[in-house]
Amino acid sequence: ATNRNYAISVIPGDGIGKEVMPEGIRVLERAASLYGFTIEQTWQDFACCDYYAKHGQMMPDDWKAQIGNPDAIFFGAVGWPDTVPDHISLWGSLLQFRREYDQYVNLRPVRLMPGVPCPLVGREPGDIDFWVVRENTEGEYSSVGGKMFPGTPREVVIQETVMTRHGTDRVLRYAFELAATRDRKHVTSATKSNGIAITMPWWDERVEEMAKNYPTVTHDKYHIDILTAQFVLNPDRFDVVVASNLFGDILSDLGPACTGTIGVAPSGNINPDRTAPSLFEPVHGSAPDIAGKGIANPVGQIWSAAMMLEHLGEADAAAAIMRAVETVLAQPGLRTGDLKGKANTEQCGKAIADALA
Ligand code: NAI
Ligand code: MG
Repeated sequence: ATNRNYAISVIPGDGIGKEVMPEGIRVLERAASLYGFTIEQTWQDFACCDYYAKHGQMMPDDWKAQIGNPDAIFFGAVGWPDTVPDHISLWGSLLQFRREYDQYVNLRPVRLMPGVPCPLVGREPGDIDFWVVRENTEGEYSSVGGKMFPGTPREVVIQETVMTRHGTDRVLRYAFELAATRDRKHVTSATKSNGIAITMPWWDERVEEMAKNYPTVTHDKYHIDILTAQFVLNPDRFDVVVASNLFGDILSDLGPACTGTIGVAPSGNINPDRTAPSLFEPVHGSAPDIAGKGIANPVGQIWSAAMMLEHLGEADAAAAIMRAVETVLAQPGLRTGDLKGKANTEQCGKAIADALA
């Protein structure tokens, strides 16, 4: 973007995505006016199940041309399992973006916030504060493999893990770069080199190679099985955790779960090379069970806005949004029902926008 005017593609999606998105936009606009930048929004009506009902597909064939080349994509949630099977809604939308835009980092914060009851006993806000960096394009989620002799006693199925030096090094570099910006400057790598004895020892080697470029950043590694236990037992140990696609998938759900409700967690699908737009969205889905009631927690969407601003270089505004979120979450009258609060979606969103000033 030039002159701090950011083109944002806004895609609310389904269910509560349509309810939390206006609150994300409200806070973004307030932050823009306070911090002296502008947001140029283009709303898209595709990548949702209403679009599917009309057109028989989740997105138009020329979706890429329609989206153009925005500075970022701000996404709500997709999925409406009563009318469209989840694998169709997901593969037809979000996974297209991740792949076509080469969003090779999936980034999620694991941070204990005030007002959010921690399922881990005895932890206070400030105790848990780290990032999970997941490789988002290759690894265990490959299309290499196949099935032979289906339906017979000789039935055999093979799916290969594919790790490339290009794909591994770039996600490791991202993790070390991120750690270098933090106080603790520590990277933890998820491995399984004892059991997966070809790819994971190689992953470990790439970590050691990458670490040489970052003398100020310390690093260690854990096997994935004990690492999941450490997330629960000693979450204060971590600063930046980097993992392959499958391990990262697990850790990036486990981490936020260790810090409370799904309604507050954000995520970024990031193309750090900026050859294509990155996408920011709450971790939660479309929540059909509460959709239409106006009671969804908007914090996940709003925190995603803060991550997006950070990515765009508006670090001060991003930090201010996070302070406003913490202020509001600390007050039962202003947080939503999933956090035993009294506010609805709009009241909570407005409170965060007001706390910014
Ligand atoms: P979900 O995240 O939509 O809901 C799980 C539970 O958490 C529900 O009880 C819901 O009411 C609650 N919840 C979620 N977000 C909340 C919020 N902001 N405030 C208060 N409560 C909240 O996951 P579920 O039910 O498995 O999936 C529903 C649909 O969403 C499916 O179609 C699924 O494919 C899709 N989905 C989409 C995602 C995305 O867009 N990235 C991620 C996860 C699921
Ligand atoms: Mg997952």
